[in-house]
Amino acid sequence: MKVLEADRLTKIYSTKGSSLSYHALEDFSISVENGEFVGIMGPSGSGKTTLLNLLATIDKPTSGRVKINGTEPYQLKNEELALFRRRELGFVFQDFNLLDTMSIKDNILLPLVLENIPVRELEERVLEVAHLLGIESILSKRTYEVSGGQQQRAAIARAMIHRPAILLADELTGNLDSKSAKSVMESLVRLNVEREATILMVTHDPFAASFCKRILFIKDGHFFSEIRRGENRQAFFQKILDSLSVLGGDLHEISPTYP
Ligand SMILES: Nc1ncnc2c1ncn2[C@@H]1O[C@H](COP(=O)(O)OP(=O)(O)OP(=O)(O)O)[C@@H](O)[C@H]1O
Ligand SMILES: [Mg+2]
Repeated sequence: MKVLEADRLTKIYSTKGSSLSYHALEDFSISVENGEFVGIMGPSGSGKTTLLNLLATIDKPTSGRVKINGTEPYQLKNEELALFRRRELGFVFQDFNLLDTMSIKDNILLPLVLENIPVRELEERVLEVAHLLGIESILSKRTYEVSGGQQQRAAIARAMIHRPAILLADELTGNLDSKSAKSVMESLVRLNVEREATILMVTHDPFAASFCKRILFIKDGHFFSEIRRGENRQAFFQKILDSLSVLGGDLHEISPTYP
């Protein structure tokens, strides 16, 4: 079953009071099956965040269509769209965006406060997702008492607690050292394998990307190429580096540490 279908997405940014416009994304189509773990890679400025924002309904496409779990979010009225976003989508960003006035557990429960769910079920749900992400022991702590990797795993737990149709992530390892990045990526793999979570993540980090099962490359706002992972993650990492060198452009600083 297809969870996400985007058809010929185009985004043109225009500057107010100026005739200048910029084609950040052009005719980009992508389709994601239930249970897939997909990465989006490309040079800086190639349109990765633009694409993710269109899929996350954070920003409207200039043209093209998006369908998520059978619904076209851009056809919805504002209130319906807010509900759709809350129920069907999970987001994780580079900054963990946890509230430091609350415990990790309350942060994770935040998306459910508006839903009418019995306390006992809330407890069960937190424990289940915390177990999958390996953060049971820090549930009563505050954000400043735990590591960056733990904070990001808590942010993932918060994004998954309401069981969204798809988890969308933008540079989620961008603020992490390589050890924390590894623990975060392994957690995502566990969610993907054990819960069949559908994940779409944008990254410029080939190491983080090597945990995905399929990667789409984007260049100058256009689809460029696609690769699929075989059994071996190390071999996939090398394949990613090869694809990036074919892609060219400003590829940020590619991490010299091999996995
Ligand atoms: N709100 C905006 N208004 C005008 N131009 C924008 C806006 N957002 C992005 N752009 C431009 O669109 C292009 C694509 O930007 P985008 O943020 O999608 O790139 P990216 O692939 O995510 O890059 P990075 O790897 O650096 O995060 C860039 O040239 C950027 O300057
Ligand atoms: Mg970006």
